[in-house]
Amino acid sequence: MADKKARLTVDGLEEVIELPVYSGTEGPDVIDVRPLTSSGLFTYDPGFVSTAACESKITYIDGANGILLHGGYPIEQLAEHSDYLEVCYLLLNGELPTPEQKETFINTIKNHTMVHEQMRNFFNGFRRDAHPMAIMVGVVGALSAFYHDSLDINDAHHREVCAYRLIAKMPTIAAMCYKYSIGQPFMYPKNGLDYAENFLQMMFGNPCEEYVANPIIAKAMDRIFLLHADHEQNASTSTVRLAGSSGANPFACISSGIAALWGPAHGGANEAVLTMLEEIGDESNIDEFILRAKDPDDNFRLMGFGHRVYRNFDPRAKVMKQTCDEVLAELNISDPLLKIAKRLEQIALEDEYFVKRKLYPNVDFYSGIILKAIGIPTNMFTVIFALSRTIGWISHWSEFHSSPNKIGRPRQLYTGSKKRDYPTK
Ligand code: SDX
Repeated sequence: MADKKARLTVDGLEEVIELPVYSGTEGPDVIDVRPLTSSGLFTYDPGFVSTAACESKITYIDGANGILLHGGYPIEQLAEHSDYLEVCYLLLNGELPTPEQKETFINTIKNHTMVHEQMRNFFNGFRRDAHPMAIMVGVVGALSAFYHDSLDINDAHHREVCAYRLIAKMPTIAAMCYKYSIGQPFMYPKNGLDYAENFLQMMFGNPCEEYVANPIIAKAMDRIFLLHADHEQNASTSTVRLAGSSGANPFACISSGIAALWGPAHGGANEAVLTMLEEIGDESNIDEFILRAKDPDDNFRLMGFGHRVYRNFDPRAKVMKQTCDEVLAELNISDPLLKIAKRLEQIALEDEYFVKRKLYPNVDFYSGIILKAIGIPTNMFTVIFALSRTIGWISHWSEFHSSPNKIGRPRQLYTGSKKRDYPTK
């Protein structure tokens, strides 16, 4: 119920329009603008900078203070004490699992990791040098063709089965994309391994010898999955919610999220950061790129910097930076790109252009360096992001369908031609 009201007066309108104002448990109040329609008015908010598109209980971001909560738990504490599958359970259910619930959840996921054998044929239709995100969009969408037994989106159990299948199969499909690109045989999942170890063996193992993941690398991989798990109503999650609002098949909805994530302004930024660092090539070139980033006539932007919501450090970037140092130390790697990244961060954080606009490193700034150190090729970085974010997408999709909902259908400010007749001779 609204506990406050907003009153709107509009030139040319006699009536004062009263709009309900709602308060959440955290964050800004929201003005319910639905009554505007009866006054013949729309709101106008390209890019949804000031629009709450839905009510949600899953994740909360305080951009001004660099706070990210999943089910109320700060991301820093989850990164230190939890693991990816436990956070998957938290995002899906709103509570951390008991030890028994966690064991049951993990075992359920382990028993859904294989994909239908026919799915291997989809890969043969792609060129070996196809971008793995193009393959992911196609193959994940194709899951719609295989699972007809649990697609009643209004059935909570069916929604749960879809979530389990997606959490379990995304690492398998992601690793298949990589293996296909290098001409190596697909590796089957091994249920005796934990989630990150299993992914690494499917990526880097081969049928000729036993693969044992470095535990430090496996932990870093799990933390990367965890840090990317969910992030409120970002572009790809909003895409999944909108696709879901039409009643579309959940696998097709996740495929739409993968497509939206691919853009360099969103999940494609981790790949773009590495490309940018390699283009900078040496610390002596940093100033030139900073100038380009500040030039309004140059569409170059500092990849890995800035965020629509965070006007402070992205808390995930801080954890990612610490993980980066751990992984490079463990692997005894001194990556020159890391030196460039740290120098770039230092310069940008002192530069008035970035300070004034509150442009800080985001989650993508350091993740690429860790993934490169682990041996994952640059074009697989966004695939890793998609794998990680699947739990966020399916949790929001499920939340949307768990209460009465409407198809999403925004309106517009029309500035095209007025009505006119077709010219007849
Ligand atoms: C992710 O939404 C999420 O939660 C996303 C995400 C998630 O987990 O789902 O956190 C993941 O997508 C992180 C963001 C990854 N993208 C990048 O690192 C790409 C580089 N960043 C920018 O493209 C940009 O910062 C965005 C897209 C992230 C945010 O853009 P906004 O909010 O639309 O901000 P804006 O474009 O209006 O920029 C405001 C000003 C502009 O300058 P002025 O017009 O005021 O002169 O800041 C400038 C921009 O030109 N600016 C940058 C910049 N980012 C913004 N200038 C140089 N380099 C940048 N990176």
